[in-house]
Amino acid sequence: MTIGFFDSGIGGLTVLAESLRRLPTENYLFMADTLHVPYGTKSKDDVRSFILEGVEQMVHVGIDALVIACNTATSIAINELRERYSFPIIGMEPAVKPAVEMNHATGKRVLVFATPLTLQQPKYYALVHRVDEGGIVDSLPLPELVEYCEAMQFDRETMRDYFRSQLAAYNLDDYGMIVLGCTHYPYYKGILHDILPPHIEMIDGNAGTIKRLSALLNRYGIPTGSGSGSVRFMCSGNDPVYLDKMETALALIREDGYVTQSVV
Ligand code: DGL
Repeated sequence: MTIGFFDSGIGGLTVLAESLRRLPTENYLFMADTLHVPYGTKSKDDVRSFILEGVEQMVHVGIDALVIACNTATSIAINELRERYSFPIIGMEPAVKPAVEMNHATGKRVLVFATPLTLQQPKYYALVHRVDEGGIVDSLPLPELVEYCEAMQFDRETMRDYFRSQLAAYNLDDYGMIVLGCTHYPYYKGILHDILPPHIEMIDGNAGTIKRLSALLNRYGIPTGSGSGSVRFMCSGNDPVYLDKMETALALIREDGYVTQSVV
């Protein structure tokens, strides 16, 4: 039994790392669409065809379930993928609902970080409309962050400066929670922690996604627990350098789910 994870790049590894923690006895196939990353600044039509092509490549290799470990790809293509394939498919959306619920008692606002494309989709509007009765959710696109991440730019000073400039217009005292609505962003949790006021909490959808994966495998009657936690990597460009980068990135986040040290 093989569980596939799909993302535009190394972001989905933050979700895979969570799966390796919670479901350590499965086998995994991780695909990054390196020829087309980043998705978040491209057109919906282009991204849709990149996703359909990438997932088809994974299906050829062989998967029994699929996690679309990308908020952007989920908002563009999850329905179409579910129509095409009969195996279970889990998508991701920014964790706005749990953030609003958990933040309720603080009386403060929620700030959602995601890619421009995710924030432009009707799926995102519908989500916010559904869960944000009090009108406390604000959204901030961070398109450069995916590019920094793909370049493995984890230098604390550089990235602190970047986040400070992005957040300069916000009065952070008004906020109680930040939603990391793109799977590339959790790499920066440690660095964000350095610059955010201590009362602000961060949330991503990774743990919830793996819980749903586990429940769905059960519901489909897919036998689990017979793997060894092996991970095979593939990428659309078949670039050996990128395959190495994926291994390095997974090792960097595997323990804590975010980068704890600078890489040069
Ligand atoms: N990691 C992706 C997400 O969760 C997409 C990033 C991108 O390619 O722009 O949205």
